[in-house]
Amino acid sequence: MDLIADIKEKARRQMRTIVLPESYDDRMLLAAAQLAAEGLARIVLLGDPESLRSRAAAMGADLSRTTLLSPAASPRLQEYVDELVALRRHKGLAADDARKQLLALDQLYFAAMMVRTGQADGAVAGAFNSTGDVLRAALQVVGTVPGIRTVSSVMLMVTPNPELGENGTLLFADCVVNPRPDAQALAEIAVTTARSCRSLLGVEARAAMLSFSTMGSAGHEEVDRIRQAADMARAMAPDLLIDGEMQLDAALVPGVAAQKAPDSLVAGRANTLIFPDLNAGNIGYKLTERIAGAKVAGLMVQGLAKPFNDMSRGCTVEDIVSTVAMTAVQAQG
Ligand code: ACO
Repeated sequence: MDLIADIKEKARRQMRTIVLPESYDDRMLLAAAQLAAEGLARIVLLGDPESLRSRAAAMGADLSRTTLLSPAASPRLQEYVDELVALRRHKGLAADDARKQLLALDQLYFAAMMVRTGQADGAVAGAFNSTGDVLRAALQVVGTVPGIRTVSSVMLMVTPNPELGENGTLLFADCVVNPRPDAQALAEIAVTTARSCRSLLGVEARAAMLSFSTMGSAGHEEVDRIRQAADMARAMAPDLLIDGEMQLDAALVPGVAAQKAPDSLVAGRANTLIFPDLNAGNIGYKLTERIAGAKVAGLMVQGLAKPFNDMSRGCTVEDIVSTVAMTAVQAQG
């Protein structure tokens, strides 16, 4: 079974409620209908129910099994205003501004508040809004899982080479969120991603902390940051296999690993790649996609107390469906 089919099967077994704030984008309506038809999640679409129904009908999308919820008419609005004011007290947010944020046209804060308060198990956005806007709503309202301060992203990368990672599948992090993580943040990214490997692929991570140096072959403060992060990650989670610093070829190619890092249990067989910063991660995943013919099978935000996932604005209806399925699986814990 392929990776997405496997994730959809998991989502179906324990249905979760996922809120989609960007109902103003037609792809979201089509995805909501498909998600209901495939039985992948209980979907809540935010927006005026009447206009959602008529737009859906015009496209032939069946929303009869989707909950349609208008934020402005929600009986929970005042509760959400109070909660947002309390959450953002340290930034001096007034009740009027909190209400405006919750009723903003993007509906991102309302969705985030539904996730925070358990009215939804997760949210998916990004078809219309920028990554920064989606992440800000999630960071400010949903917050981080206990014990983790750094929210990051994990990407499921499927390469055409079955000898790499797990039958060609690798996890990449962080390619989306943290511009320049310090050693502590990088350690948290490694630990969170290794745990995501367990829950998404059902296998133990072999996580390589990437650098331009392998096990001290080069001396530089940037290398020190990565080595320090590897030590911190191992101290945080001794049960996980995390090693570094190492170069990409040492991480992936057994022959190079034998030469450069013969004692490493990760080198030469890594299935999880931890990039040193956002420049490397973002460029790295795009190089893999554009030059090596790999495909991004999924992108998830990790480290949040509950899932709120972002997508590319160029996403297709099928991308939305698979991201919602992944979010539902993440929400199963
Ligand atoms: N983990 C946990 N908390 C965080 C993180 C993080 N990674 N980043 C910011 N925060 C906190 C902040 O400390 C802040 O807390 P506070 O408001 O309670 O003091 C809160 O979250 C909100 O942060 P803001 O200050 O509003 O936002 P910030 O300016 O820090 O931006 C953001 C955060 C949006 C994630 C920023 O780092 C960013 O833009 N990252 C890059 C996104 C991007 O463009 N990615 C590449 C393109 S996507 C693609 O190619 C698929």
